[in-house]
Amino acid sequence: MPVSAKAKSVQSKIPDAFGIYVHWPFCAAKCPYCDFNSHVRHVPVDQKEFAQAFCREIETVAARTPGREVESIFFGGGTPSLMEVTTIKSILDCIAVNWDISDDVEITLEANPTSAEADRFQGYAKAGVNRLSLGVQALNDKDLQSLGRLHSVKEALGALAMARDIFPRNSLDLIYAHPGQTLDQWQDELGQALALGISHISPYQLTIEAGTPFAALHAKGKLHCPPSALALDMFETTRTMCDAAGLVTYEVSNHARPGDESRHNLVYWRYCEYAGIGPSAHGRLKNAAGRWATETERHPETWRQMVEENGSGIIADNLLTPDEAADEYLLMALRLAEGLDLARHEKIRGKALPETRYQPLIENGFLELDNTGYLSATNKGRPLLNTLIAKLAD
Ligand SMILES: C[S@@+](CC[C@H](N)C(=O)[O-])C[C@H]1O[C@@H](n2cnc3c(N)ncnc32)[C@H](O)[C@@H]1O
Ligand code: SF4
Repeated sequence: MPVSAKAKSVQSKIPDAFGIYVHWPFCAAKCPYCDFNSHVRHVPVDQKEFAQAFCREIETVAARTPGREVESIFFGGGTPSLMEVTTIKSILDCIAVNWDISDDVEITLEANPTSAEADRFQGYAKAGVNRLSLGVQALNDKDLQSLGRLHSVKEALGALAMARDIFPRNSLDLIYAHPGQTLDQWQDELGQALALGISHISPYQLTIEAGTPFAALHAKGKLHCPPSALALDMFETTRTMCDAAGLVTYEVSNHARPGDESRHNLVYWRYCEYAGIGPSAHGRLKNAAGRWATETERHPETWRQMVEENGSGIIADNLLTPDEAADEYLLMALRLAEGLDLARHEKIRGKALPETRYQPLIENGFLELDNTGYLSATNKGRPLLNTLIAKLAD
């Protein structure tokens, strides 16, 4: 069976799945490579007040999405494992009051693997979390230190062992192609991670994000990342090793045992509907007029104040044109091994994608079209995804 046909057998109802993203914007320390919306507060935040604000925003968004059934909830960050169990519980209770919840809802929480956080795992599971995504990042202490992480390998492995006892589904994140890393070292590290027998893994190539301490060092010539040819070798090796270990590459940086894909991330990549709750959260909500792109205020305390005053921290709420929505679908779906459903793309866009745009890319081996009408990137095309998308988009 071709990879695309295999990957297409994954669960989740296309395109009606509805997910909820909840953003917790605080971390114990800021990692020097990270530009996510995360803030360090030296005085502990009042979680009760934040939980009330999350709940208020949930009520506001639920009022414009009546009748939806929630298939996935994702607590992302920042560091959601800094949330008290009661905070998670009250947010989940609030979601359950405002929407119907699917019987097999996936509830994921992103966790940092320090022992203090692992102590809360049991409570999270009791509150309803059934999938943990653990930010291990590296499996040697030297690299963990240079990535500015607060945990050791021993703590990360301890947290993972605990997570596997507690949660039915687990995933781990790794970062590769960081300064000084060789191909052999990465192969060795990924091999160790795969030997842990986990059913989902997300290895991310280090991106030097503007405005971060890593970007400043890079600009001064003090941070030497692997050259792009080596980074590409690492990317290819990652796919080959994960596939060989039975963790199928279903998205550019995501690999899972079939059936264990992240249903929440599939909501994004299949361009389904989702609500974004919390500071800097993005949503895509549908109504009779079309698809709306929502975005909330980034700064946590300002967001909370806006919610207290207006019921939500939404700062952008735009109806997408059919071309914009179709481009978003294209951008997301080409990341997936299963690819883009041309018939669905036509429905969103209101007209078919001209064959003249994709046929030459098929002839040159960058894309393939299967007999069910799904267009996907080949192994040759995947590293050039941005170029391919630019050629296909409106
Ligand atoms: C925003 S973090 C949240 C998870 C958690 N706070 C942690 O650090 O483990 C989600 C994931 O993004 C990845 N990430 C963040 N910044 C990155 C960067 N500049 N390059 C590559 N991956 C990055 C890390 O692997 C991280 O686990
Ligand atoms: S990588 Fe995770 S822990 Fe580090 S600053 Fe970003 S969100 Fe926080």
